[in-house]
Amino acid sequence: MKKIAVLTSGGDAPGMNAALRAVTRSALWHGASVVGVEQGYEGLIDGRFVALDARSVGSIIHRGGTMLRTARSERFRTPEGREQALQALKKEGVDGLVVIGGDGSFRGAHALCEAGFPTIGVPATIDNDLYGTDMTIGCDTALNTALDAVRRLRDTASSHDRLFIVEVMGRDSGYIALHTAIAGGAEIAVVPERPLLPSAICDQLKESRRRGKSYSLVVVAEGAMSGHALADALSDCGAFEARVTVLGYIQRGGSPSAYDAALATQLGSHAVDLLFEGKRDLMAGLVAGKLTDTPFPETWQKQKELKVELLDLVSRMGI
Ligand code: F6P
Repeated sequence: MKKIAVLTSGGDAPGMNAALRAVTRSALWHGASVVGVEQGYEGLIDGRFVALDARSVGSIIHRGGTMLRTARSERFRTPEGREQALQALKKEGVDGLVVIGGDGSFRGAHALCEAGFPTIGVPATIDNDLYGTDMTIGCDTALNTALDAVRRLRDTASSHDRLFIVEVMGRDSGYIALHTAIAGGAEIAVVPERPLLPSAICDQLKESRRRGKSYSLVVVAEGAMSGHALADALSDCGAFEARVTVLGYIQRGGSPSAYDAALATQLGSHAVDLLFEGKRDLMAGLVAGKLTDTPFPETWQKQKELKVELLDLVSRMGI
């Protein structure tokens, strides 16, 4: 391995820059040179490489977003796009690739491995929906952003005796919703893994009111239903006057938390070590405090179970 390439792909996540820094400096430590690829697989197809050294990844460990920029590439889903990318890697003289991203990005990385190109993945998505690592890079920061919002909304909810419905991200995963609800002291978490009927939510809210609560907080994952759809469904409930806040993309931005910056540094470095050990077609992870590697297909085929007992904890705390 004389030359390593690194790219960020899919939705941005806080800590991607810290991972880029770790990949670059670890590869340099191994004696290899490093190139970054602009805009994920889009830039790979077009051969947009930029030389990276220890200084070019300085002062980025604390920055949100990704200095290489990112994309969701439709072209890379086609055999022609992938062939162009392989040719570009060959032309640039790259021996191994590190892909920082989520499940869509790893499907692409697996296709490169099947075509014979050594690739390792670093899990970075705020959704924390990848099997093979306890946490994905960016999730902890997104949780803290959502928690900050819930705490602020609590001020208004309690001052006006209202129901606040807070919609958080998570297309297929309720991780952010569940953990924001626990940490923020919300009464109900609505997650795709365990759908709740609006009528059941209404019953719970009425019961809260009966027990003397003057306001309520409900956190809903976008993948379960939209906050506005839930508010509409609860319009005849008669429990509390409802307001909706959709947190949206603010959850993807901002400086990585201490946890995410440290996780990104460990996983970026581990990914490079794996490449130098001759391994490929794997995602670097951290499970129960130990560095691990998981075959790419398992990361999206195996289900990362949401701890549904934590939903019961939300209910228990919401009395
Ligand atoms: O990064 C994951 C995620 O934030 C999902 O929760 C969300 O549905 C999706 O990305 C939306 O991203 P985009 O609009 O960038 O495709």
